[in-house]
Amino acid sequence: MIEFFNITFRMIHVVAAIMWIGNSLLFTWFELNLRRNEEDGDESLGSMNMLHGGGIFFLQKRIIDPKEIPQRLHIFKWQSYTTWLSGFILLVSLFYTRGGSLLLDPVKTDLPGYMGGVISFASLVGGWLCYDLLWRSPVRNKELLGIIISFAGLIAYGFWLDTIFNGRAVFLQMGAMMGTMMSANVFFHIMINQDKMMTALKEGKPHDLKLGKQAKIRSTHNHYITFPVIFLMLSAHFPSTYGSPNKIAIAAVAIITLALIKHLMNCYHSLPRWKELLGVTFVVGAGLVALLINQGKASEAQSMTPEAAAGQKVFTSTGCNACHLPQDGTIAPSLHGIMGKERVFEDGSSLVADENYLRESILHSTAKVVKGYAPAMPPYATVLSDEQVDQLLAYLKSLN
Ligand code: HEC
Repeated sequence: MIEFFNITFRMIHVVAAIMWIGNSLLFTWFELNLRRNEEDGDESLGSMNMLHGGGIFFLQKRIIDPKEIPQRLHIFKWQSYTTWLSGFILLVSLFYTRGGSLLLDPVKTDLPGYMGGVISFASLVGGWLCYDLLWRSPVRNKELLGIIISFAGLIAYGFWLDTIFNGRAVFLQMGAMMGTMMSANVFFHIMINQDKMMTALKEGKPHDLKLGKQAKIRSTHNHYITFPVIFLMLSAHFPSTYGSPNKIAIAAVAIITLALIKHLMNCYHSLPRWKELLGVTFVVGAGLVALLINQGKASEAQSMTPEAAAGQKVFTSTGCNACHLPQDGTIAPSLHGIMGKERVFEDGSSLVADENYLRESILHSTAKVVKGYAPAMPPYATVLSDEQVDQLLAYLKSLN
């Protein structure tokens, strides 16, 4: 039942997001490609012809004549609202209802589980308020300053969150906050300015392009944070990024790189060498992320014995980390701090985890099945050598 719910809302969330982002990308592309043609008349802001589906689409952007407001006028907002609502439902159902245990990192904090949900929700609201007030203040006329403050605020928040949330939840929460800002921009600015504009037009006042411009700042923000949000939302699949001690620096590099890439894509008329620059930006960004990941691994390995470091390699090369995440997941329990922890099994029995138990769990995993999990772990008795098992045990101990 929970899985059915999860699949349904995830599908809605992903499909709505694709439609929303698709619109954002397409409309920006329209804006960049419209050209003014003399024959289109005075009210034309630009037009173009597009070949698609066996016919030619003629697209024109024009100043609206109050006397001729079109009857059928499409407004794009539900793509955005549906994305946010389904995302919020997923956040509540998958993360808030489980006592926040998937958000908080018990190694970093003693806060009770429900505080994870409280901090997450308060941050969604608070993050929006900070961002919105900043861009309502005079800073909005100094765009670069506004961008620097917004970015620094987000990264500072990330560093703070990393002291209480687990890595996966830090990235997800940052993505959810940026997604909330995007949707709130649509709701509180873009739609309201459009409504004001249409009301004025219906009252017969001339088309005021200034109102559209204010909304445009917010929709430009939305446009540039799209790629970073996609990265953060998909980050659950990239354990080497959110699992690294350098995770916030990695997120910062990824956000800057992806926003720059989007910018260069928009420059393809104005910048002759945009393709080369895009390539360089990608290589530099990806290279920096790789460096940060490796530096993080090296600093982690330094604090371990050589045997534990070898065990960590076995852990990743055998694929243990595909199921065992730093925090309890839906597939497998976390192995962080497992030594000396009480384990309860499906048959109701329990014991305190010691070396013998861990060895048995690795070699004959289904002998004792941890409560709440399926006997899904493959047996490793014939796969791992004795030496590798010893190294794995040393590594598991080092996680305490
Ligand atoms: C296909 C997913 C999967 C893979 C791969 C996997 N495990 Fe597991 N593991 C599980 C599941 C599910 C459980 C809980 C059920 C059980 O106890 O059998 C578990 C349980 C454990 C336990 C006992 C945990 C506890 O909470 O008491 C240990 C230790 C363990 N695994 C270590 C490893 C190691 C080491 C590797 C790699 C050599 C590995 N696992 C690979 C899924 C996996």
